[in-house]
Amino acid sequence: MVSRVIPVDQFDLVIFGATGDLSRRKILPALFRRMRSGQMPEGSRIIGAARSKMDTAGFRDLIRRSMAEFEPTASDTPELLETFLNALEYIAIDAMGDAGWKPLKKMMRKDRVQAFYLSVGPNLFGEIAHRLHTNGIATPHSRIVVEKPLGHDLASAKALNAQLSESFAEHQIYRIDHYLGKETVQNLMAIRFANALFEPLWNSQHIDHVQITVAESIGVAGRGGYYDQSGALRDMVQNHMMQLLCLTAMEPPAKFNADFVRDEKLKVIRALDPLEIQNTVRGQYRAGGDEASYVEHAENPDSTTESFVALKVNISNWRWAGTPFYLRTGKRLRARLSEIAVVFKDPPHSIFPEMANRKGNALIIRLQPDEGIRMRMTIKEPGPGGMRLTEVPLDMSFAEALGPDVEATDAYERLIMDVIRGDQTLFMRGDEVEEAWGWIDPIIAAWDADSSKPAPYDAGGSGPEDSLALLHRDGRRWREIDA
Ligand code: BG6
Repeated sequence: MVSRVIPVDQFDLVIFGATGDLSRRKILPALFRRMRSGQMPEGSRIIGAARSKMDTAGFRDLIRRSMAEFEPTASDTPELLETFLNALEYIAIDAMGDAGWKPLKKMMRKDRVQAFYLSVGPNLFGEIAHRLHTNGIATPHSRIVVEKPLGHDLASAKALNAQLSESFAEHQIYRIDHYLGKETVQNLMAIRFANALFEPLWNSQHIDHVQITVAESIGVAGRGGYYDQSGALRDMVQNHMMQLLCLTAMEPPAKFNADFVRDEKLKVIRALDPLEIQNTVRGQYRAGGDEASYVEHAENPDSTTESFVALKVNISNWRWAGTPFYLRTGKRLRARLSEIAVVFKDPPHSIFPEMANRKGNALIIRLQPDEGIRMRMTIKEPGPGGMRLTEVPLDMSFAEALGPDVEATDAYERLIMDVIRGDQTLFMRGDEVEEAWGWIDPIIAAWDADSSKPAPYDAGGSGPEDSLALLHRDGRRWREIDA
């Protein structure tokens, strides 16, 4: 099965911060791959905007070199790569001053889709939005794209939203959470709402608990400065894990459209019980093997920033009361693994004596690596000798099931094309971001007020002991972190 390419309209995409890491590593390679798939209409332009003084030829040269590093397969199709580079333009612009704005205005074509991707620090979001507006560059139809960090607490998130909304309406603002662009995250909605099988069971009557794990094997080397100001709660839970939680727990939207889906996600966040400190675990990795410890990476020997967090979350609504959601995420863990495990209750009555030892049914939705779904089932162990039970997985790797020709689309490819298409379903609305911070802030305040430090854990392990204890005390266990 080969993926279908859905055409988009011709566009002008301006990337602010075009010479920076995100642009060269993710955004431009994603656009190249969309061109290779035939989705980028001829005549569309990508306009790099940054502070550096250079011309279009210099920018094309820079991107030619960075494509060799970040998208090496581009050299297999040299003609296409040239076509792509020829679609690039450059304009030197001063985000905080007047230089470059008039030429940019002259360059933009009003009869094309116009999108402005702010691949810059959040301190510049408001400035750039304002100048796009006051210089008459943005139209009521143009779109603006921003990405995390979208604030570091509720007050700063509100301020950011207020700055953006001075110049752009909500329907023009695309807040990226790259987890929403992952294939399996969207599949979660398809699995839940396109099958009649699961939804009747998707509630506290039948589901014992849910485990959401985003484990990473990498540490924070190279970005310790940013990370030390952030920590796992701000870096992963407020955004990516919150989105996974919402999509797992939300009510079926009446329609698959941006506001209907986002309304349902918002209701989940509003139904979260305030977190109590005893339902939170913080960890920090220590040195292991050849790897330095967290504090060495962060270059801050006294750092109390968490590189691991585990939470027990209760959702107070009719569907979920009594069914906890356990969340954990961390750096330098045993493997890179992201999954949502929905663990079902035992049958109400057991006719098999062995049942007590079984783990029970679980639906495991694996985001990475090897995206797929797996159902843990209990069956009879084959052979004579009475009724012995065993557990087997009903396993479906999407790559195996759908065939090797299915093109693996990176989250940025999908999300950028959704911006051009004008579809906000996979983007966060301002109120969602604020509500999530509103839930996170008291946890941070409680940690700040608490004199204990994050619990140390071994690099290459499953996180601190306290995280195991969080489930043990409820008579439950985390799933293994295995790739
Ligand atoms: C980013 C975080 O948003 O997501 C990183 O800032 C993290 O710390 C990354 O490593 C994880 O993304 P992925 O797609 O590799 O799971």
